Amino acid sequence: MTGPDRYGVEIYADGLHGRSPALPTDLSRLEAAARRVLPAHVFDYVAGGAGSGATMRANRAAFDRVGLVPRMLRGNHVRDWSTTLLGTTMPAPLLLGPVGVQSLLHDDGELATTRAASALGVPAVLSTASSHTTEEVAAASGDGPRWYQLYRPTDDEVTASLLARAHAAGFTVLVVTLDTWTLGWRPRDLDRAYLPFLRGVGTAIPFSDPAFRAGLARAPEEDLGAAVRHRQRLFTGTAWGWDRLATIRAQWDGPIVVKGIQCPDDARTALRLGMDAVIVSNHGGRQVDRAIGSLSALPGVVAAVAGQAPVLFDSGIRTGADAAIALALGADAVLVGRPFAFGLALGGQAGVHHILRCLLAELDTTLALAGYRDVAELHDAEDVVAGTP
Ligand code: FNR
Repeated sequence: MTGPDRYGVEIYADGLHGRSPALPTDLSRLEAAARRVLPAHVFDYVAGGAGSGATMRANRAAFDRVGLVPRMLRGNHVRDWSTTLLGTTMPAPLLLGPVGVQSLLHDDGELATTRAASALGVPAVLSTASSHTTEEVAAASGDGPRWYQLYRPTDDEVTASLLARAHAAGFTVLVVTLDTWTLGWRPRDLDRAYLPFLRGVGTAIPFSDPAFRAGLARAPEEDLGAAVRHRQRLFTGTAWGWDRLATIRAQWDGPIVVKGIQCPDDARTALRLGMDAVIVSNHGGRQVDRAIGSLSALPGVVAAVAGQAPVLFDSGIRTGADAAIALALGADAVLVGRPFAFGLALGGQAGVHHILRCLLAELDTTLALAGYRDVAELHDAEDVVAGTP
């Protein structure tokens, strides 16, 4: 992105022809808008979190305890937020996080998301819990960047097969999620006794996998129940240790990012074991209730990593200004989850496109008016934020 993203200018110009945006430009209003269009069980699945929701609230509260300290008259009318992370060049340090079961939100699900993201050169991380196969999403992504998120099955052969398919389909960066080896306690889903995977939704990747299918007496198309049970056995309930990362390291020829880091010590361990980057994340508050807000964990992890590897951040970002705060606190890039999921629900591919353009434009405008022109300058500056998340 050279100079400010033009989205705001285009919106005002459209107004002269009587048009205004179909979706809100204050992305913190998306959740309320999505609630009006989604079936209640789907809305709860996406918007909900662990337990009483304390971690989701902590994620947001952490943002409210810090603020940018704008600097004036810095001549930064030309800006460039583009960055290269683990070999992927992107227009700004912003990615769409791995969000599973997107067919709940729109029939085109991950295909719509990846098309919208690719059109802007933004990586959309493909989840193992996708409702479309690895190969279908790769085809939909065109020339766009391809990052793949692994929920590690307990069977190494199935893991190897999932990774080989991702590699063959052109995915270059692997994100390994550590915080969901079993599902969090999620009352909004429990109260409805609703879990999509038990209905065969969000299972396209394992169900189309030869190594997974080899473990079944009958194909998923013939015996859905048995395939669902096999999937549950492989993907939930088994705690694994740091030693398993060595196996994954040997199975993936490319950068590996571990997702779910909240403690500086875990970040150091991951790097010692050859991981290439970490994502400070608490899964959007969906796993451990009463955990610290993810933004509160960010400065400690940034200090522990000490520039040896990229530190990415998610959980709680709702707007471009929120993204700006996380970058100002030292994140090398940020991911968003629910905002684009709600955009997908409200407008399919066009909805995700709108969300991304809003995020990019607001991020640029916020950091521009705060006095910065690129990520390096932001990271080098002192006293960019006041307060403690
Ligand atoms: C997720 N997240 C997630 N993470 C992951 O590694 N693999 C996955 O399949 C999913 N699936 C998923 C589904 C839904 C409905 C949500 C809301 C989230 C977590 C996601 O990648 C990210 O960490 C959080 O969404 C970030 O928090 P925010 O932006 O939603 O507050």
